[in-house]
Formats: sequence, C-alpha cells, structure tokens
Amino acid sequence: MTVLTVALGGGRDYPIHVGGGLLARAGELLAPLARGGRAVVITQPPIESCYGAAVRDALVGAGLSVRTLAFPNGERSKTLRTVARLYDGLYEARADRRTLIVALGGGVVGDVAGFVAASYLRGLPYVQIPTTLLAMVDSSVGGKTGVDFRNGKNLIGAFHQPRAVLIDTNTLATLPRRDLRSGMAEVVKYGVIRDPDLLDFVTSRVKDLAGLDPAALSHVVGRSCRIKADVVAGDEREETGLRALLNYGHTVGHALEAATRYRRFRHGEAVAIGMVSAACIGEAAGVTPSETRAAVAGALKAQRLPLAVPADVPAASLTGLLSLDKKAENGKARFVLARGIGNVALHGDVCEEDVRAGLALQAREYGGGDAPAPAEGAA
Ligand code: GLY
Repeated sequence: MTVLTVALGGGRDYPIHVGGGLLARAGELLAPLARGGRAVVITQPPIESCYGAAVRDALVGAGLSVRTLAFPNGERSKTLRTVARLYDGLYEARADRRTLIVALGGGVVGDVAGFVAASYLRGLPYVQIPTTLLAMVDSSVGGKTGVDFRNGKNLIGAFHQPRAVLIDTNTLATLPRRDLRSGMAEVVKYGVIRDPDLLDFVTSRVKDLAGLDPAALSHVVGRSCRIKADVVAGDEREETGLRALLNYGHTVGHALEAATRYRRFRHGEAVAIGMVSAACIGEAAGVTPSETRAAVAGALKAQRLPLAVPADVPAASLTGLLSLDKKAENGKARFVLARGIGNVALHGDVCEEDVRAGLALQAREYGGGDAPAPAEGAA
C-alpha cells in the first residue's frame, strides 16, 4: 500500500491510501474516523452489489454500526432531488454530526455524497472509496462536491474535504473497458500539465494498463493522485489559478458534454476531445507547438479515446456554451494552454478567432473518426 498526503495544514491533512485489496482494510483504515461509532455508506446499486458487503463487513468488523443508502445509477441522478432523498435517509437513520459518510462508487457518488456530507447538519465527516479510475485519479481527491443544475455540470456545490481516500485498485477489474479508457484521459491530463514521464508511461504501457497490470495501475493512480494532492494543497479553493490548471481540456470538454446533454460521452471522452481542442486552440493562438499538440493527441489515441468534436455538434453551439462555463470570467472562456508537455498556464485572453481557428484545425486534423456510441448509464 502507498499512502500519500493531501497537505492542507491546519489539522486538515488527509491520507490517500492506494493499493490492491484495500477494501478489506476499510475497517482498520476508516473506522477511527467515525467518532460516533456509526457510518452511512452512500452508493449506487451496481456498486453496492459488487462491493457493498465487503465494505460493510470491514466497517462492522471494526465495531461500527453501518447503514447503506443507494440512489439510482448514472449522471442523471446527480440532482438536488437525489440529495433531498439522501437527506431523508440520514434523517431516518438519525445521523448526527459524528456520523461518518462513506462515498462508495464513481464520480457521481463521490460528488453527491460529498455534497450531502457538506450540507447535512452543516457538515458531516466523510471518506471517499472510489471504484472508477476517473474517481480514483480526480474527483475523490480535493473536496469538490456538488450536483448538476439545469444544463450546467456541478453548478451547485461546496468545497468539503474528505477525511481520507481509500483506493483499492482491484475494483477496476469490474469497471467496463470504456470507463477505464475514460479514466485514462485524466491520467493523460496529469502528464500534460505536470509530468512528461507519466505521459510517456501511459503512451508506452497501453497493453499493461488495459490488462490491469497491478504495478502499472498503481503507478499511474499513485502518480496522478500525487499531482492532484500537490495542486489542491497549493490552491485548495481554486483562487490562485494553480488548481484551474487541472481543467486542462475541460473548457471544451464541459461544453461538449452540455451540448450533447451529458448522454453521449463519458466525462473522460469529452475531456479527451477537449484536450485536443485546447492543444489546437493553443497552436492557433501561437502558444502550443505542433509537436506538443501531436504528443497530446498521440497519448489519447493510444488509449483509443476520441480526438474530434463529432461533425453533428456545430462549433457555434460549443463556442456559445463556452461563456457559460463555471470558469468563465465576464463571459469570456478561460483556457489552460500548453507551452510544452509539463508546462501549462491559464489564459483568460484567448480571442474568439483563435478558438474558431483551433476548432477548425482540430476538425481538419482529427475529424472523421468514429464518435463513441451514446452512453449507457455510467457506473
Ligand atoms: N477536477 C478539477 C479539480 O478538482 O479541481
């Protein structure tokens, strides 16, 4: 097991435990955080049937009383209505301020359960047990919680840091291949923003990663979490621009998800396309060298991720949505652009002409590929 620390200071540091088989150690590693002796596991039915018993047994074995609340599968459940139902469950379970919330599942579970923990009784302690690669390397670390609202992703939420993150890489064995690839998009992102060696690793070890080689997986998960932990520790509430660098590829990625009503793409697929957009827009703006753009696209292609905005999503619909992005300031979209691999910066001054030219370059260079089929409910 590897233990990383998110060094927030002020007594709020928390560990990220990474390793194979760690669910069995959930009692030993997490029960001390439930000072009232009670835990409520928040999850979704498919995850509950795979891993609910293992987590419950481990927590009960460590002396906790445990309730489970499951909400329906998929991104479409990431709503205030779900949150209200979970409040009902906590009320009926007589949860108090010492009750530990355990978020067991993918990014949707982590975001919803984290928001419930942030708001019920003005804040309960919670831990994250992510079971998708995307959640392991991104959403479970850093305390961003929330739900979607109208056509906007994560428009309602709160910063609320977990007390611990427990990552059992063995849970990736039940993850659909498409979701594994989607998570790899975020790993590629960490390589692009901070770590050329990680980018080389994901590009050259595709077979090992797809074959769930434990050492290769632990390496990419551990390295990604290390980068995320450092960035979060440096800019917890996204105030200095440092944390915003984690949004490389997300400006167009989020717009594409909204344009396709969150149904067509996995988050990582939209981000993969958005990373290619960012590279092309960077090139059009004279920031990103073409070899950097090619390295970004090459790493994503090696993971069999999509590279192009589908032809039936007009550039105009994307550029319209860009100004609605949460990170937009004064109606102007901000882009994270790469000067090279491991060297990115936030640009608030990209003109619309460069955005259009970049999207046109992307369509020319990478268009015509197969867009993924509409998503079945995400696990
Ligand atoms: N996923 C971006 C962040 O946590 O800041």
